[in-house]
Amino acid sequence: MSNGASLLEPPFATVSWSADGRALRLLDQRRLPGVELYLETRDVRETVDAIRTLAVRGAPAIGVAAAIGLVVALEHAIEAHTGLNDLSGVDFTAPLPIARSALERLSQQLDASRPTAVNLRWALQRMLRVAAALPDDALLRGLRAEATCILEEDRAMCLAIGEAGASFITEGSGVLTHCNAGALATAGIGTALAPMYVAHARGVTFHVFADETRPLLQGARLTSWELQRAGIQVTVQPDGAAASLLRSGAVQAVFVGADRIAANGDVANKVGTYSLALAARVHGVPFHVCAPYSTFDANTATGDDIEIEHRHRDEIALAGERMVLPAHVPVNNPAFDVTPRELITHYITERGVLSPPFHI
Ligand code: MRU
Repeated sequence: MSNGASLLEPPFATVSWSADGRALRLLDQRRLPGVELYLETRDVRETVDAIRTLAVRGAPAIGVAAAIGLVVALEHAIEAHTGLNDLSGVDFTAPLPIARSALERLSQQLDASRPTAVNLRWALQRMLRVAAALPDDALLRGLRAEATCILEEDRAMCLAIGEAGASFITEGSGVLTHCNAGALATAGIGTALAPMYVAHARGVTFHVFADETRPLLQGARLTSWELQRAGIQVTVQPDGAAASLLRSGAVQAVFVGADRIAANGDVANKVGTYSLALAARVHGVPFHVCAPYSTFDANTATGDDIEIEHRHRDEIALAGERMVLPAHVPVNNPAFDVTPRELITHYITERGVLSPPFHI
């Protein structure tokens, strides 16, 4: 990446239409960094499974996946109902009640796949609103166009976040990030990593410290993979090393993404974000949350109202194939935590930089 124009192109296609437009195409993040493999889903159960098992993850990316996944699942359901196996040439001049009821059902199935990232619901509600305004004969075409629009807007908003946040990365500085809020978490160049991509393209030299992010290692497996690929210097550390690194003076700014931002500014993000924000505050290091407006949720008053996903015991009990817990010891495995707005220096969005306190 060497100039502003090339930044418009994400480094790889995390989430997109398949080449024939009939499936959702995903870079399978369960296999990274070892294997770079793409998978395609069509049936709604395959898409729900890909979201639940984190083949596609990160708030904006699952929003885009849900929008495309809804269209391909709807077409799949109509084909199964009508016996046609290619709807592209079919002219739907007659009302198509099956499509309307299937749309509602498929959207509910996708919505139930993960609870915390509001982008998922945001994208599905946007698709349903558009569908309600479309005549039957334009339904499939209109929904395809809307899903493509969500995908393209996501790319543009990543770039805008990168441009709004790049000036917070100064020459020779250290920056710290948690989880993966990069190109792998969006259809573009990421949210928290977008300022890093833009600063790098502008010739700024800096060093990224990536928390490994227990238990699923999004920082170790994904953030380091995509930054190294882009030629950005990156060091991975255990999550527990962050506080002392902040104390050492090696870090001038922390950048994280968000899964949902409540109306009062509280932020849900990957578990461990809250501890990082506390440590950053104690050591006087600015703490920036990078997110598009689709992550701000006016219907959620405060962080206490955000549903936090709890995941399976095995994510804690197993290290690879090896059992590391005695049998029957229970685990506490929340995937996210809430950082109160008081600990946040800036919200870096596609519409510019906001400072708390604010109400959306
Ligand atoms: O469980 P994950 O990997 O989906 O969690 C992802 C995060 O917490 C990200 O920081 C967040 O979704 C923002 S992605 C731009």
